[in-house]
Amino acid sequence: MFGKIGRNDPCWCGSGKKYKKCHFEFDQRLAELEAEGHEVPTRDLIKTPDQIEKIKESAKINVAVLDAIGEAIHPGMKTSEIDKITYDVTTKMGGIPAPLNYEGYPYSICTSVNDQVCHGFPSDDVILKDGDIINCDASTILDGYFSDSSRMYCIGDCSEEDKKLVQVTKECVELGLEQVKPWGYLGDMANAVHEHAHANGYHVVREFGGHGIGLEFHEDPWVGYTGKPGTEMVLAPGLCFTIEPMINMGGPDIYIDSENDWEVYTEDGSKSAQWEIQVLVTETGHEVLSW
Ligand code: MF3
Ligand code: CO
Repeated sequence: MFGKIGRNDPCWCGSGKKYKKCHFEFDQRLAELEAEGHEVPTRDLIKTPDQIEKIKESAKINVAVLDAIGEAIHPGMKTSEIDKITYDVTTKMGGIPAPLNYEGYPYSICTSVNDQVCHGFPSDDVILKDGDIINCDASTILDGYFSDSSRMYCIGDCSEEDKKLVQVTKECVELGLEQVKPWGYLGDMANAVHEHAHANGYHVVREFGGHGIGLEFHEDPWVGYTGKPGTEMVLAPGLCFTIEPMINMGGPDIYIDSENDWEVYTEDGSKSAQWEIQVLVTETGHEVLSW
């Protein structure tokens, strides 16, 4: 993975700087960590400044979609209307909804209500009612660059119990995010997420995780939430990925609707919440690109 570049050759990242003044030390550090047995990102996962700018433009659309949904959402709304808002806002801003036709997914967004864990289909038949909790998971392609984030919305008067699930899940993401530091490990983040979920009596879904993102919708690494500190991929500056834990009020088990092979539900019917952010590891910490 570390091709031979002369110290005075232009850096592989496209900065135009000499390799020795740019990613030379970076590559050496990764090589050392790899030799120690750590999982390190391949070079194609490290975003260049140009790519980061493009991803940020894509993310502006994604954030605008979630903001527009936040303004429009109300009891009595069909989730198909959320799909329409997503399509309209995204395309008006020059983007494409990334979920549409992704591996056969038939809509522009995922709308997962109550015990739906993820990949809920927007529908004319799903009418939001007072007390529902819903995750809207938007993803955008702009000029070939991807963004992805999701939020929870509480519909009308929700129970204290459900509001707590939504709040704690958000805190899980925030605590995970605090662990995103250059030369840290993905497992540091994972540990923070599951510790907080368990401390509140909840369980983290194991089958679905976050992912690298930017040039593709789903890139390496796969981002789970069961890891231990100091394990899993090294958080090298330039790595861009999502943190998107699905937290169940009850047990961790899930099943996939066999009618469509997409919609995911909690096995025990308990409610599930999810927030998703897209984060970039920087030289000094991290930057949230989409939230
Ligand atoms: N937005 C989802 C994620 O966070 C993508 C689900 S795949 C889709 O990775 F096709 F349903 F969009
Ligand atoms: Co995602």
